[in-house]
Amino acid sequence: MRLLNLWPLLSAATLATAGQHLPPRNYTTHDYYAVHISPSTSPSELASHLGLTYEGPLSSLAEHHVFKAPKHENDIVDDAQQDLKRRRRKREVGLESHPLDGVRFTQKQKIKPRHWKRSVIPELPKRAGPPVTEAIKAQREVAKQLGIHDPIFEEQWHIFNVKTPGNDINVTGVWTQNITGKGVTACVVDDGLDYDSADLKANFFAEGSHDYNDHENLPTPKLSDDRHGTRCAGEIAAGRNDACGVGLAYDAKISGVRILSGDITDIDEALAINYMMQKNFIYSCSWGPPDDGKTMQAPGILIEKAMVTAVQQGRGGKGSIYVFAAGNGAASDDNCNFDGYTNSIYSITVGAIDKNNQHPYYSEACSAQLVVTYSSGGGDAIHTTDVGANKCTSSHGGTSAAGPIGVGVYALLLEARPDLTWRDVQWLTVLTAVQFDQPSDWAKTSLDRMYSHQFGYGKLDAWAIVEKAKDWKLVKPQAWFWSPWLHVKKEIPETDHGLASVFEVTADMLKEANFERVEHITLTMNVEHNRRGDLMVQLISPTGMVSHLSTARRDDEAPYGYIDWTFMSVAHWGESGIGNWTVIVKDVITGNLKKGVFVDWKLRLWGESIDASKAKLLPIPGEHDDDDHDKIDDHPAHTTVVSVPAGTKPTITAIPSDHPDRPVNQKPSQTLANGAQKSAVTSPSATASSSPAENFLPNPFPTFGVSKRTQIWIYGALSLIVVFIAALGTYLFVARRKRLRDSRDSYEFEVLDDVEDREDTGMLGAAAGRKKRARRGGELYDAFAGESDEDLISDEEGDEGPYRDRDGGRYNEKFDEGEEESEDGASSGSSAGKR
Ligand SMILES: *[C@@H]1O[C@H](CO)[C@@H](O)[C@H](O)[C@H]1NC(C)=O
Ligand SMILES: *[C@@H]1O[C@H](CO)[C@@H](O)[C@H](O)[C@H]1NC(C)=O
Ligand SMILES: *[C@@H]1O[C@H](CO)[C@@H](O)[C@H](O)[C@H]1NC(C)=O
Ligand SMILES: *[C@@H]1O[C@H](CO)[C@@H](O)[C@H](O)[C@H]1NC(C)=O
Repeated sequence: MRLLNLWPLLSAATLATAGQHLPPRNYTTHDYYAVHISPSTSPSELASHLGLTYEGPLSSLAEHHVFKAPKHENDIVDDAQQDLKRRRRKREVGLESHPLDGVRFTQKQKIKPRHWKRSVIPELPKRAGPPVTEAIKAQREVAKQLGIHDPIFEEQWHIFNVKTPGNDINVTGVWTQNITGKGVTACVVDDGLDYDSADLKANFFAEGSHDYNDHENLPTPKLSDDRHGTRCAGEIAAGRNDACGVGLAYDAKISGVRILSGDITDIDEALAINYMMQKNFIYSCSWGPPDDGKTMQAPGILIEKAMVTAVQQGRGGKGSIYVFAAGNGAASDDNCNFDGYTNSIYSITVGAIDKNNQHPYYSEACSAQLVVTYSSGGGDAIHTTDVGANKCTSSHGGTSAAGPIGVGVYALLLEARPDLTWRDVQWLTVLTAVQFDQPSDWAKTSLDRMYSHQFGYGKLDAWAIVEKAKDWKLVKPQAWFWSPWLHVKKEIPETDHGLASVFEVTADMLKEANFERVEHITLTMNVEHNRRGDLMVQLISPTGMVSHLSTARRDDEAPYGYIDWTFMSVAHWGESGIGNWTVIVKDVITGNLKKGVFVDWKLRLWGESIDASKAKLLPIPGEHDDDDHDKIDDHPAHTTVVSVPAGTKPTITAIPSDHPDRPVNQKPSQTLANGAQKSAVTSPSATASSSPAENFLPNPFPTFGVSKRTQIWIYGALSLIVVFIAALGTYLFVARRKRLRDSRDSYEFEVLDDVEDREDTGMLGAAAGRKKRARRGGELYDAFAGESDEDLISDEEGDEGPYRDRDGGRYNEKFDEGEEESEDGASSGSSAGKR
């Protein structure tokens, strides 16, 4: 039924893909515009009116078109719109229709700051214990049975671990069922793919490939550090042959889209992220905004539209699968909820564990993380294909290497069940990921699964997910429920208390929304604060489950808090959604004169519909989604503000009592990505409910010792004053919001600029000059940072000590390994921009 409804869309998309190849863009000579116009407007007429050149439709995005003009300072389309508006106001022109009236959205393209590849400097191999003889025997038997002769197969511990049996992806039991990725194509969006490599040649899928850096058809790696994409591709689909090792889906097809090796704009990234979405099933993305603990960056609107389009129309309407690496900034307090790619409901966020099932120092935690799998750490890394005719590497690492292992598993899953939708793939992950024996903030969810912000639902198990899929009943289409904007507008206490706001979701609201049960939760919020890194946000669901939506960041000095930022959580998967949802905002660094105001928030529940026949497709995110934002006092009755104490970090505990027989790890790596403070952490759910009395209700009114009549007069006058002040406040608030939103462009510049002082961002020079990022090395703050560092050292495995150094300097001192490592070193230290 749902498929039938999709047919018109699908054929439109197929038509649109005919225009897939726009003429190559040249950012040295031209500026480009992405413009959304009404169907009745002619793009060429608009172009000639504005003096632009029409390049063609923007691929899959309906009614979006690309225009160009020789390089120029101003914004031609916007200026023309303003000019028309002005002349109409002055009645110089009439209201008769004008080509510009058909413009619904326009964006002059800017060169994007580079994404970071999510690889890290791998550790030197540690002399590990001897392999377990039994395990070696089993490994060789499996290889023989499957006809695997690949020379480094025996080193690929992530596939079959002979030293710590069980610490692997558990895939050989899937392969022996003849499930090896046949008929599935995965696309590595990265820095290229060496399709001449003996290990990738046979599986390479040219039709699904493109180079958006050099505007060519094939994603040829050209720069000296263009190895990242090839390594990731090898993990997914290196062939069963005489070269290197095997990929997890060694009979799958693999394509490459190159975007990380040169200047691109949002147009390029939007084209790349759903390139050939009927033929590429899964997009593997091991990159993202800088993992420096001070960036907060989301995909631009064109990219968001491209992702939603792929999820609704890609793979024959079943939805493209996006896999994103969680990020490597844990040692800098980074959190994957500050990255709008990893915290999208459309992407599966994959973090890393090392071969000892331990948390590697780099892998970021967040409530949007779904699952983890193996990567570097604990003295080894991932062994896979490298650039070159027959080259292998034994040092692929970081969350960059974890994501593609997930992609390989999903390729097997889609061979077993090609009919799974993008949400079924996430459901199966939630239901089959395996909890393991590491202390973390594991908490039991409504589905009786264990969730940790550090490890998601646990480690991916290829055999378990494919088995579960075999008789899996597809979930009903997506439904959603959105709260109104909930206005809080209260100062965040400068004490160890947090500020809470509650919204009650009733059974009727969800019934009305055709909403059966929760999958993802997103929470969009505005918090004004003059030091963003001080903030921490928790969400407590009606069942008491706590999502740590944001955590404090020691290097995040941004003086503006959160502006319309959307956090995401997968920790409430399976809940009914009915009851009180409490959000708590806390300033964890008090006494530093940095404070703020919790302005407003909006809760969105995403999940399964009750009645499939009434389900609708989510409209493609538009340009005016936020229109209800300034409506003051929607549903004021649903918000109450209470002050509650709240912990600053997720509580790290040992394995819950489900596993009483298992020894708790002797060296709890209590790092939680950032060296959690040792101070006792109270359970927020308990305290939230235990102290609702401590609220902002006024004291009993004084009588002033005068007559009732006079009292009425006094209070009447007082309330008039209050009303006046409130009105003034509202006016100032709206004006301020408008200013904030108007200045959003420059705000984005500032954030991106924070990232790194790149020499090649000449275009951003003006914005850079505007940026005043005074580093406030307040003593108090330094003291705090020092404390965390100490915790980090004392709690981590000794051998991991050097790696927590964010700029890699200490590593380089210690293990100066030359070329290969300096590539990755560059990504953490300088501007190279890959993870
Ligand atoms: C852009 O155009 C200039 C001038 O014609 C040329 O030198 C340059 O190679 C072009 N760059 C690309 C990427 O095509
Ligand atoms: C790993 O796969 C085997 C079959 O090959 C299966 O018996 C076992 O239960 C799997 N492990 C987990 C944790 O599911
Ligand atoms: C595996 O599956 C493929 C295609 O489905 C089939 O051609 C091949 O014979 C199968 N191999 C075995 C060993 O069953
Ligand atoms: C939600 O909180 C309000 C106010 O504290 C309370 O009156 C209401 O009963 C709560 N609802 C539920 C379902 O607990």
